[in-house]
Amino acid sequence: MEATRLSGRKILLIVGGGIAAYKSLELVRLIRKAGAQVQAVLTASGAQFVTPMSLAALTGHPVRQDLFLPDDETAMGHIELSRWADLIVVAPATAGLIGKAANGLADDLASTLLIATDKQALWAPAMNVRMWLHPAVQANVDRLKRFEGFHQAALIGPDDGEMACGEFGPGRMAEPAAILAAIDGLLAGAGGRSLAGRKAVVTAGPTFEPIDPVRGLTNRSSGKQGYAIAAALARLGAEVTLVSGPVALGAPTGVARVWVETATEMQAAVHAALPADIAVMSAAVADWRVDGVASGKIKKAPGGPPTLSLIENPDILAGVARAGPQRPALVVGFAAETADLAANARAKLSRKGCDWIVGNDVSDDVFGNDANAVTLFLKNGAEETWPRQSKTAVARALADRIAAHFSEPQ
Ligand code: C5P
Repeated sequence: MEATRLSGRKILLIVGGGIAAYKSLELVRLIRKAGAQVQAVLTASGAQFVTPMSLAALTGHPVRQDLFLPDDETAMGHIELSRWADLIVVAPATAGLIGKAANGLADDLASTLLIATDKQALWAPAMNVRMWLHPAVQANVDRLKRFEGFHQAALIGPDDGEMACGEFGPGRMAEPAAILAAIDGLLAGAGGRSLAGRKAVVTAGPTFEPIDPVRGLTNRSSGKQGYAIAAALARLGAEVTLVSGPVALGAPTGVARVWVETATEMQAAVHAALPADIAVMSAAVADWRVDGVASGKIKKAPGGPPTLSLIENPDILAGVARAGPQRPALVVGFAAETADLAANARAKLSRKGCDWIVGNDVSDDVFGNDANAVTLFLKNGAEETWPRQSKTAVARALADRIAAHFSEPQ
């Protein structure tokens, strides 16, 4: 095991109640030996098996046991702990902890943390074989695995073997060395790279161009893909400004959102966020706005409908790509196409002057949908087609690709 991949990384270890908890002490030792930091959260039942003192001594940090402690909330409460961590490891993961997280139940520090975080979690189940094989536990494990974008549950074990209760079968917690290898793999999954110290500006959602105080022109865009990209970049440590048109989505953790309505406002907000290293323009910007917005509601008149005179909106992406010294080092645009994806995306790449285009085949039901199939077109002519996957997974793949780009020799 090379120490470098784990060095400086931060692991939050949740120790549940089970005889396997003694192996978690060895896991702490291994993680620290590999150069990472560990903070431990001990559940009430976990404390029946290992003492807070052992965990504190081995982690070199105070052990967190309670959700409501005035001192802890002022120092590092459940939200800060989750922000602090690069990865959450639940070992031993009991049927109780799995069940709570799978069903959104939060009644102590460990279960609240697992709901309050968007960090990836690695679960190392340990329980009696009959408990593990019980359909309720298996259903909860399946649920956890499906919460992609939240826990992105990864599972290690349980191993087959003789158990403390005298039975034999799957239920033994994976060995600490195997858990360490899984941690290493998961951290490397993000390329092991970070975007810490990089600034990013992301546009998302539609723009809304008023006709009069009650009407307007807009595009169909849920904003989901752009929001997921902002979240994924922030997750890798970037400082993200999300310039958002009107959508019904909450701001992702750690992202500074700037609300805008029109393309003109969006352009101003994007330029105000420069300089930045990365620009990802995923907004569906209205191509035109109304020339001479009426100050009062336009009335239906016997003479028939009004004629709207339209003027072209600024191309925000092209403007950022040609922003001179303010130009971000990496400018990424989107191309939603219903036909000839490659030809249209390549044409857009050069017309707009950006570095990458995420080509999006919208011929079948992408809008508002949770899945997306994209091809990445690079200025150097390279092309990467990604499998159809959730918008969160696309966002994470793009953020990883961006982090990899910044770690390549330029
Ligand atoms: O030209 P088209 O709208 O297809 O280009 C799509 C790409 O350009 C997207 O990245 C979109 O966010 C960006 N765009 C923009 N400003 C516009 C129009 C499109 O930033 N006015």
